[in-house]
Amino acid sequence: MQSIHTTEISSWNPALEPEAQSEFVHAIESGKVIYLPNLSFEIQTSESAYLSPSWLNGSRKNISLDSGKVGGAKGSEEDLSRIATMVERFSQQSTSLVKALFPNYIAFLNKARTSFRPSPVEGKPASWRKDDSRLHVDAFPSRPTNGERILRIFSNVNPNGLPRVWRVGEPFEDAAKFLLPSLSRYNPFLARIQNALGITKSLRSEYDHMMLEMHDKMKADTYYQDNMPQQTVPFPSGCTWICYSDQVLHAAMGGQFMFEQTFNLPVEALKHPDLSPLRVLERLTLRNLTS
Ligand code: SIN
Ligand code: FE
Repeated sequence: MQSIHTTEISSWNPALEPEAQSEFVHAIESGKVIYLPNLSFEIQTSESAYLSPSWLNGSRKNISLDSGKVGGAKGSEEDLSRIATMVERFSQQSTSLVKALFPNYIAFLNKARTSFRPSPVEGKPASWRKDDSRLHVDAFPSRPTNGERILRIFSNVNPNGLPRVWRVGEPFEDAAKFLLPSLSRYNPFLARIQNALGITKSLRSEYDHMMLEMHDKMKADTYYQDNMPQQTVPFPSGCTWICYSDQVLHAAMGGQFMFEQTFNLPVEALKHPDLSPLRVLERLTLRNLTS
């Protein structure tokens, strides 16, 4: 499979040769998914009761850990603290894995939210825009990145052996070339108003505008969804995978119980910055897209 780079690594803290590390950095920055079939996130027996959507408090889709604080969960203080410990362990293990695979990133890594996703993927989304079973690149309306990367580590912990099934789409640059003519123009005045009103957490740059437009136009185009080159990838229970989700076109088709850790990284941290969505879009538009 062309868009998947498989490795037999079975430890969260592997000792790797520099050649292996440059192979991984090239793979991930080229827009591949690094797939670790032998690396599982272990749920302890005392934690197995937490593999249930009943701990969600209804305020959001997932349970999250952000700067040590659990969000989205309900339960006694002891339950919440055990859930926090479990999610924190995933956060630490995924951090040590990223540091081992990509040592050049260490100085630049910005750890963002950790999530535990106990709900089944199947279910009715609130709208087509929120429907992650349609291929998309990650771009968030309220959280502009100004070109920073979104690196994500996922582990499927399904206790019943259910895979997490993704579709992975065509290379970012192909999608960008196809979608570019249909993207609406950036309005810097509107971006400033949205920032002043707190609709965005920082100023939405032209890059952020284009990424959101790509996210939306891609999801809205059902012909493109069905007909662009793509592959279905089942990630079995007990495996881990890593990708730049701002670059890999992905869609979640099925599964339940997954952990996910997000990191943000500046483009300067990359070994091959020319492959990044920011540089690809700048090359295609012949413009500087960040503010
Ligand atoms: C997504 O990031 O679009 C969803 C991934 C998943 O839930 O498997
Ligand atoms: Fe996504």
